[in-house]
Amino acid sequence: MNQLSQLWTIPNPEFSQTFLDDKASALFERLRQIDVAYSQVRFASSMAAEDLVLIDAIAHTKSAISVFTLNTLRLHAESIEMIETVHSRYGITIQQLLPEQASIEAYTRQYGENGFYDSVQAKEQCCRIRKVVPLAQALQGCQAWVTGQRHGQAVTRADLAFKEYDRERGIEKFNPLFDWTEADVWSYLKARSVPIHPLHLKGYPSIGCEPCTRPVRQGENVRAGRWWWLQEQKKECGLHQT
Ligand code: ADX
Ligand code: SF4
Repeated sequence: MNQLSQLWTIPNPEFSQTFLDDKASALFERLRQIDVAYSQVRFASSMAAEDLVLIDAIAHTKSAISVFTLNTLRLHAESIEMIETVHSRYGITIQQLLPEQASIEAYTRQYGENGFYDSVQAKEQCCRIRKVVPLAQALQGCQAWVTGQRHGQAVTRADLAFKEYDRERGIEKFNPLFDWTEADVWSYLKARSVPIHPLHLKGYPSIGCEPCTRPVRQGENVRAGRWWWLQEQKKECGLHQT
């Protein structure tokens, strides 16, 4: 069977002790550095694989980094269920940020409930009211925030650094997994028996809102199923413009 005709499956890299010793310790050290340098730090978690690596590492290092998720009200039910999974495994409470009902009603009047399929502008406005505005609320009073972004996820992330200045929000932004590969992520999750989002078992390497995410084929870019009707350059939702 042609590789592209099969759905993406979870990579199964060789587990190595050297990996845990090097890559995971470096990650723990990065989190400790952030934790020591800033008093108000928040981690934005979508509940996908990278973000579970970070939740596990935050718990392991006992960092005072609080975790939130942007509940756009268009997420898969499985993403919401992961909040409880994380709580029972780690005792971490994940705060949910919701969009404003008035903004959703105004959007629906102007574009229709699923207007994001029709134009880039309508997509950007939907992401703005459901993600970017709630993100600003989540980060009020924070000195820094943390994301699970990696270089390999997208052409738009090729130049990602560990530490960035988020001009939009006026605070520091950290990407502790910026130099991790997909294999690194799955090695870590396997080695430490971290719970994973159920949609990873159904061909989804990357998970966003339900109407804007679909499974990908083996060999496709991991974010090919996100806003699949748009070109790669248009696939940022406004959370990561620095
Ligand atoms: S994005 O375009 O949706 O931002 P991606 O799914 O690759 O892209 O996520 C990158 C990072 O953005 C995640 O690791 C996480 O830090 C943050 N993020 C994405 N979606 C959410 C969400 N719904 N809630 C909180 N953080 C999120
Ligand atoms: Fe709206 Fe789709 Fe963006 Fe979610 S990902 S906020 S549904 S356009």
